[in-house]
Amino acid sequence: MKLTIDTAKCSGHARCYAVAPDVFDIDDLGYAMPIDREVTEPLDEDIAAGVAACPERAISVR
Ligand code: F3S
Repeated sequence: MKLTIDTAKCSGHARCYAVAPDVFDIDDLGYAMPIDREVTEPLDEDIAAGVAACPERAISVR
């Protein structure tokens, strides 16, 4: 499965970075930096927290 961020949906809430700074990164304006990374189940707690934290549903694992 892949962890990705839809940068078109990201509105710069920076909540992903707030809950999981080791996984997610943001630019100077608070927008998430692109991620395209393989992940496995069960999801790492930090990844799951980041997915749940985004109000725009810009972070997905598929
Ligand atoms: Fe963007 Fe969602 Fe993170 S809006 S900065 S991907 S919490």
